[in-house]
Amino acid sequence: MAEAVKIYDGAINKGLEGVVACTTSISSIVDTTLCYRGYTIEDIAANSNFEEVCWLLWNGQLPNKSELEGFKKNLKNAMHLPADLVEQLAKLPTNTHPMAWLRTATSMMGMWDKETEDNSEEANRHKSLRLTARMGMLVALFKRVREGKSFVQPNPDKSIAWNFLYMLNGIEPDSEMVDIFDTCLILHADHELNCSAFSARVTASSLSDIYSAVVSAIGALKGPLHGGANEQVILMLQEIGGMDKVDSWLTDALAEKKKIMGFGHRVYKNGDPRAKILSQMSERLTKKMGHPEYYQMSKYLDDKMQADKGLLPNVDFYSASVYFSMGIPTDIFTPIFAVSRVSGWCAHILEQYSNNRIYRPRGEWVGPTGLKYKPIDAR
Ligand code: ACO
Repeated sequence: MAEAVKIYDGAINKGLEGVVACTTSISSIVDTTLCYRGYTIEDIAANSNFEEVCWLLWNGQLPNKSELEGFKKNLKNAMHLPADLVEQLAKLPTNTHPMAWLRTATSMMGMWDKETEDNSEEANRHKSLRLTARMGMLVALFKRVREGKSFVQPNPDKSIAWNFLYMLNGIEPDSEMVDIFDTCLILHADHELNCSAFSARVTASSLSDIYSAVVSAIGALKGPLHGGANEQVILMLQEIGGMDKVDSWLTDALAEKKKIMGFGHRVYKNGDPRAKILSQMSERLTKKMGHPEYYQMSKYLDDKMQADKGLLPNVDFYSASVYFSMGIPTDIFTPIFAVSRVSGWCAHILEQYSNNRIYRPRGEWVGPTGLKYKPIDAR
């Protein structure tokens, strides 16, 4: 066997750890500080709303009054799924994971969009608006179809957060739940070069269309090491079953070298600022909705993981008990992430198109070389 030819003499960054792949001005992470376009997440979460955040992510600055009003009007107009698309979507099987359904439904939505193949900036902004206005409609449609219920049309005078809860449950949501959900949408909207945003950018870098890039991102978000972790967290809390079992459960899990879902992060080593905000929301909401043990178990795991392993919770950890307290089905948690993150994906795709170079890294060859083809009868 011939010697493998080395194509690269530096260290291989498995998982691209520490690699800076592009410049970006959408969101930044410095130690424990996350900013959207220069504003801290704490400031934005306390004072803004999801619609304004979408504008901020796509335009680089906060909108003035008339810009925001115009943008909300455009979002409302985009909150519409063509009837024949709804008819086809309602025929898709619902005995799959909702993220698989959402991936397919988003791809189908692209087939129904007349501007899909128009890669001008103007058309891509229209499509970003439609994708963001409709992602929640798709998730709600999935849940309604699965329950054998009819699709609830959105109320165009209300926000994306209000409408999502309304379409999901078929009843008008109370204002506190809407505020909490809106904050969740803000907290999940963007996060620098995370796995799904990077997937979207890689697909966009071939100058493929925005729907293809968002479908790539949904596929990446689905995995349990990324957005899929929020669903796994609630399953873990349910498996633990109560405060009296949490300590022995964690001791056994760590002894078995299990990954504890909702902990650790590639970039944050001193804590995820979104988890701090969500922890307070979880404490308040679990108590209010009669499930305080979900927060108590979470807090115990948080303290113990930090003390014993030096690992801190990420965004998925406390969002799980928040969504659970809101009565959202467990397997809808990750689709909710997509309802918000689609705004960040679109911002990244627009940024990628505006300063594009195709992503094409190399792989270090470690397989055999110099082999000669053998006819099948001689193998
Ligand atoms: N539970 C137990 N140990 C962990 C965890 C965890 N959740 N996370 C990291 N570790 C340990 C690893 O086993 C490893 O230990 P070792 O050095 O002794 O082998 C060390 O910490 C470093 O972990 P890596 O997996 O190498 O870290 P990486 O940066 O590759 O992965 C990730 C980050 C994927 C988030 C990881 O921490 C993890 O799998 N967490 C659980 C899943 C999760 O919560 N994902 C959501 C992340 S946030 C988001 O994507 C929205």
